[in-house]
Amino acid sequence: MTEKREIVWHQGQMTAAERQKLLGITHQPFVIWFTGLSGSGKSTLAFAIERRLISKGVLCTVLDGDNVRHGLNRDLGFSPLDRTENIRRVAEVARLMIDSGLIVITSFISPYREDRVMAKAIIGEDKFVEVYLNASLEACEKRDTKGFYRKARAGELSGFTGISSPYEAPEYPELSIDTSTLTLDVCVGSLLQVVIKHSRLGDAATNRVI
Ligand code: ADX
Repeated sequence: MTEKREIVWHQGQMTAAERQKLLGITHQPFVIWFTGLSGSGKSTLAFAIERRLISKGVLCTVLDGDNVRHGLNRDLGFSPLDRTENIRRVAEVARLMIDSGLIVITSFISPYREDRVMAKAIIGEDKFVEVYLNASLEACEKRDTKGFYRKARAGELSGFTGISSPYEAPEYPELSIDTSTLTLDVCVGSLLQVVIKHSRLGDAATNRVI
């Protein structure tokens, strides 16, 4: 971007707290940021936890890589630059959603450490909770639910994460879950503890959710 941009910030008159009050929200909105290889279970877990929380009256939503790439990010591919832009946009959207009172669960490979640091800076350090789905490459490749690993090995899909494009595992995730050895219920249970802690659910809501 080379041209000088003449834009100003318009300050609204309502606060996030006022919006939350209107919706009767008592939790603290934040982002659970999933990272992990394709096939590590990010989407499955994201939608399972969303279902659990909403069925118990906790407002949340999922931003899922494959889905967001059908719409908002349909112009982006899988080059390092495009992946960075993918994550930047998602982090900005997540920030807007938090401001509207939602707990947001993001489900993106987000393979670069630097991009996750950027997402954390956009969302805010205290509202960004990194969860690493650390199923091994072998396990993800064995599952190969979309057939992409086979295509990548055959050279039909270039720059595929874990095969011909890097994945940088988080060094200090809040939670690390090996979805290849644990049941979905156990994974959801661990995540609920994260939600309870970071959303500061009161006792009544906590008892409902667990
Ligand atoms: S990210 O790297 O930019 O974070 P994102 O999570 O949005 O990726 O999208 C990943 C999904 O796109 C994968 O689950 C897979 O279904 C599909 N995909 C298609 N091509 C690739 C590729 N080259 N590398 C990784 N995933 C790919």
